Amino acid sequence: MRKNIVAGNWKMNTTLDEGVELANEINAKVKETAHNCDVIICVPFTHLTSVNAMIEPDVVALGAENCSEHDKGAYTGEVSAAMVKSTGATHVILGHSERRQYFGENNEQLLAKTRQALANGLTPIFCVGEVLEDRENGSYNDVVQAQVEALFQLSKEDFEKLIIAYEPVWAIGTGKTATAEQAQDMHAHIRKVIAEKYGKETADSTSILYGGSCKPENARELFSKPDVDGGLIGGAALKADSFLGIIEAFN
Ligand code: PGA
Repeated sequence: MRKNIVAGNWKMNTTLDEGVELANEINAKVKETAHNCDVIICVPFTHLTSVNAMIEPDVVALGAENCSEHDKGAYTGEVSAAMVKSTGATHVILGHSERRQYFGENNEQLLAKTRQALANGLTPIFCVGEVLEDRENGSYNDVVQAQVEALFQLSKEDFEKLIIAYEPVWAIGTGKTATAEQAQDMHAHIRKVIAEKYGKETADSTSILYGGSCKPENARELFSKPDVDGGLIGGAALKADSFLGIIEAFN
C-alpha cells in the first residue's frame, strides 16, 4: 500500500550554514521520535551535498526543489537531474506553483523534467493545484485534472514512481488552509483520474500529499482523511519543532 510521507520544501530560505544546522536538528529529532511516515527535506541546490553529509538516509531523505528538463549542455545556470542525483539526493519537487507562476513552467516542460528525474533515478514530488479564481468559479477539479493528465504520457511503471502533491495556490503561504474536506475531495478526484488511466491498483498505491499552510495544529485532521497521505510543508518546515509536530500527526 501507499506510504505516508511528510516532505519539507525549504524554498529560497536559509544560508548554507543555517541549512546544515536545520537538517542536523531535523535528523536528530526524527531519529529520537517515534513516527509513522517517511520524512523528506527538499533544499536549495547549493545545500544538497552538505545536507546529504549531515542526514542519515534511513531517517531523513533528501530532495531538490527543481531540475532542468534538459540532459546537459549549454544551459547556463541550470541544474540537471543527473547533477541532483550525484549529490546523494533521491527526490525532486517538480511543478511547484511558484515555478509555474513565476518561471512560466508549462505542462510540456514539466513532463520533460519528470522524464529527466525518472531517467536519473530520482522520485518526483509532482505538484498540482488551482488558483483562487478556479476555486471560486468552480473549475478547480478540471484544472487539477488537466495538470495530472499532463503526465499521462508516462508508462504505468514510471507513473507508479511518482509522489503527487495537491497544493491549492490560495493556501500556499497564506495561512489559509484548505479544509480537510476540500483536501479529501480533491485527493479522491485525483485518485479517480489516475485509476481511470492506470487502474485502481496504481491509484491506490500513489501517495498524494496535501500542501498549503499545513502546520502542527491542522495536520492531524488533514492526515486523518483516507486519501490524504501526508504533506508538503513550506513555512512550517523551516523550524525543526513545527516540522516534527507535523510528522507526529501520524502517530
Ligand atoms: P506553505 O507552503 O506550507 O508555506 O503554505 C507549501 C508549499 O508551497 O509547498
